[in-house]
Amino acid sequence: MTSSGTAEPAILGVTELTSDPELGARLVESAHRILADLVREGAALGWVEPPSRDEVAELLGHVVAAVQAGDGALRAAYLDRRLVGLGYWLRYVRPTHRPHADLEKIAVDVAVQGRGVGRALTAALIADARRAGVEILTLDARGDNSDALRLYRSLGFTEYGRLPDFVAVGERRYDKVFYMLDFRRQG
Ligand SMILES: CC(C)(COP(=O)(O)OP(=O)(O)OC[C@H]1O[C@@H](n2cnc3c(N)ncnc32)[C@H](O)[C@@H]1OP(=O)(O)O)[C@@H](O)C(=O)NCCC(=O)NCCS
Repeated sequence: MTSSGTAEPAILGVTELTSDPELGARLVESAHRILADLVREGAALGWVEPPSRDEVAELLGHVVAAVQAGDGALRAAYLDRRLVGLGYWLRYVRPTHRPHADLEKIAVDVAVQGRGVGRALTAALIADARRAGVEILTLDARGDNSDALRLYRSLGFTEYGRLPDFVAVGERRYDKVFYMLDFRRQG
């Protein structure tokens, strides 16, 4: 792992996380801190209120089980052995959608945003999807999340639809934007 403040993050998968007992044991606490802080600051991650520790533990348990069953990928970004970001995709459960997967969350600690961690995580998850034979990787985002949308477009995602004023945060409404990356068209 690296030691300087501008260093490249180490991007680990489930195999590396589960073979390092110290990192594995801290994963839920660290992920909860990152996700709850982001939601508290208004991040568009699907929660209106910050998730509880138990909710994050349940989510990660579900994702790790899916990864171990070959139905997903989870990536965690570390700087100096400190978790600074995470993201995952899961294959669709519906039998007719099984060739495809959905990139459900990418989250980077507010303190290190804008330093390439989100790009490194997303690129690793795309590479995982390609390796797993996923045909189309989808994601959706809140329409005002322009930094995230710019990142996804720069990695090859294109918009395939939009639901106007769909995402409800209190009285506010935002577009829900749908992006896809079709590996079949990429050769
Ligand atoms: C979106 C998010 C994951 C990006 O992670 P990040 O580590 O900050 O992003 P990176 O530093 O890798 O930047 C990647 C690209 O995103 C855009 N970007 C990220 N932060 C930016 C900022 N502060 N200002 C402008 N553009 C920014 C740029 O296009 C950048 O491109 P570049 O690599 O050519 O500079 C992160 O900001 C985040 O966790 N946001 C809150 C949660 C969220 O919205 N997740 C996405 C849900 S769909």
